[in-house]
Amino acid sequence: MKIPYGGDYNPEQWPKEVWEDDHRLFDEAHIDTLTVGVFTWALTQPGPDVYDFSVLDAIIERATASGRRICLATGTGAHPAWMARAYPSVTRTDFEGRKHRFGQRHNSCPSSPDFRRLSAEVAGRIAHRYAGHPAIVAWHVGNEYGGACYCDLCAAGFRDWLRSRYGSLSALNDAWYTTFWSHTFTGWDEIEPPSALTEHWRGPDHTAFQGITLDYLRFMSDAMLTNFRDEKAAIRRSDPDTPVTTNFMGLYRPIDYHRWAADLDLVSWDNYPPDDRSAARMALAHDLMRGLKGGQPFWLMEQTPSVTACRDVNPLKRPGVMRLWSWQAVAHGADAVLFFQMRAGRGASEKYHGAVIGHAGRSDTRVFREVAALGAEFAALGPVTLGARTPARVALLFDWDSWWALEISDGPSRLVRYLDVVTAYHRALWQLGADLDVIPVTAPLDGYDVVVAPALHMVKNGLADRLAAVASGGGTVIATFLSGRVDENDNAFLSDVPGPLTPLLGVRVDEWDAREESYVNPVAMNGSVFESRLLFELVIPQGAEVVGTYRADFYAGTAAVTRNTYGDGHAWYVGAGLSPDGVTHVIREVLTRHGLLGPCAALPDVETAVRVTPDGERLMFVLNHGTSPVDLPDACAGTDLLSGHYVRTLGPNGVALYRDAAR
Ligand code: GLA
Ligand code: ZN
Repeated sequence: MKIPYGGDYNPEQWPKEVWEDDHRLFDEAHIDTLTVGVFTWALTQPGPDVYDFSVLDAIIERATASGRRICLATGTGAHPAWMARAYPSVTRTDFEGRKHRFGQRHNSCPSSPDFRRLSAEVAGRIAHRYAGHPAIVAWHVGNEYGGACYCDLCAAGFRDWLRSRYGSLSALNDAWYTTFWSHTFTGWDEIEPPSALTEHWRGPDHTAFQGITLDYLRFMSDAMLTNFRDEKAAIRRSDPDTPVTTNFMGLYRPIDYHRWAADLDLVSWDNYPPDDRSAARMALAHDLMRGLKGGQPFWLMEQTPSVTACRDVNPLKRPGVMRLWSWQAVAHGADAVLFFQMRAGRGASEKYHGAVIGHAGRSDTRVFREVAALGAEFAALGPVTLGARTPARVALLFDWDSWWALEISDGPSRLVRYLDVVTAYHRALWQLGADLDVIPVTAPLDGYDVVVAPALHMVKNGLADRLAAVASGGGTVIATFLSGRVDENDNAFLSDVPGPLTPLLGVRVDEWDAREESYVNPVAMNGSVFESRLLFELVIPQGAEVVGTYRADFYAGTAAVTRNTYGDGHAWYVGAGLSPDGVTHVIREVLTRHGLLGPCAALPDVETAVRVTPDGERLMFVLNHGTSPVDLPDACAGTDLLSGHYVRTLGPNGVALYRDAAR
């Protein structure tokens, strides 16, 4: 047993002679796991009632001959051209109302009965054919579910979904607040998906009437989940227990991964950060993915070994960066490290996408050598990290409903983005070295000393009480501006802001100010001054102690940051869009109170992460994301399992892994 290593392999794109080279090179790079068949629907089903598995058979046979394990895809991430002609309902209709013809990928209407039938059929046939094959370690359904469709079938599906959610039109009218703008619905058929043709409102894909838009987002996520379930059920008819997954995309807005998580046996995700300065953001995404199934390890299903192709500019991973980011994934809970892709395709839109093996098929390239070196490292390490869990005392709440509700809202500011707020608080926690879980608002909170809830716009299902229990039991809760504003239908609470969080936070907010990015209101806090931007809530303490105050404008002297003593613990409210150093100041205070500052908290580029193995052994990862060597404090020095050396100085992009029960 060791960390599965390999990735997407599409040999159907090249001649069989090349397959021999592929496998020779895989051996050289310690590649043991291949994801096969991700875009093969046109190959396995070349016509309406024609199935042909000969190529897939050959790929699997050849891979098995070399002892490789297979993550087998159903191939439904793109439908075949013939299908779009034979069954026009499979194509999507976009936001503007344009009915699409064949083209692209991730292109199927989730509500199309033809798509649902045909995708389940092909998945079922593949499962029937290969179930029980000893090489198959996981099933990969579809690919990167996402986007949206606005066709008539989706409209009908939306109405059914609404019927089962609300039961009656009067409940729906209530929930959607339809007395506003004469929107009262008197028949289910009057309800339209919110699109450019209906509720379009300022901005490219923005629609007014928040309740409708919010429910359409929920419906679309559920509709695609139904597609996943269709295929999974078809697989389960032949294979009762091999894990079934689909590759998620981390911080991806259109799909509520929390609502999907229970249906996956194994979470997997594709890590393509927007730039090469995103170490904290990647850590957040890894933690979010690990949090989907209560901390169960996940698979890193895809990452590029070198470059992507889809961006305007596609920077090259510097020497050592692929290794560093791979270990970062493992540090945060990955139990597999896989690439897109094993060999570069010759044509179409990904011909310049990085691959383990380039067009020339060489093994003496830098990229291949780095991949092979990491493969050797994984092989040498063996099973040590597999199944290990993160012992977090800090939880960060992440909520798609709040994300959606905040960003579809008119007012107070289009410039306040949910992820910006979440990443600001996460970055401070990350830099200060707190091991943390990123969890849904439905997760149990006992067991955490600190719960951070950035921009918790929507509060539902007793969450306020559960947060209060954290504080009353001696823990600390941190909430920010624009929290506790709406109920689960996106209607404002008829009470003081922050709604049900008011007693816990010990504050009231009557007014708020939103300004352009360039406007700064300094906040004085504990003898220092920090900038704040975008959103300024005028916080009125109702028992909470004032920690920070605004210095400018008519509300100078008004509270911006407060701390309420609640039971044996505390609840902070940060009413201003504090700069990163301001957020760090607050987080540092809280982590210090709970003794949770990480051992490398003073080194901004150094990340630490702990995993505890099933045998209870503590593993500590130390990662240097900086470009210079760093001298590690005693608590972060040790004998590195990877190099066998005692590490006291960690080079640029350096990684160390310690086994240390005491730390
Ligand atoms: C995604 C897809 C892959 C490939 C890569 C390229 O993650 O799943 O098929 O297109 O992006 O980066
Ligand atoms: Zn549709």
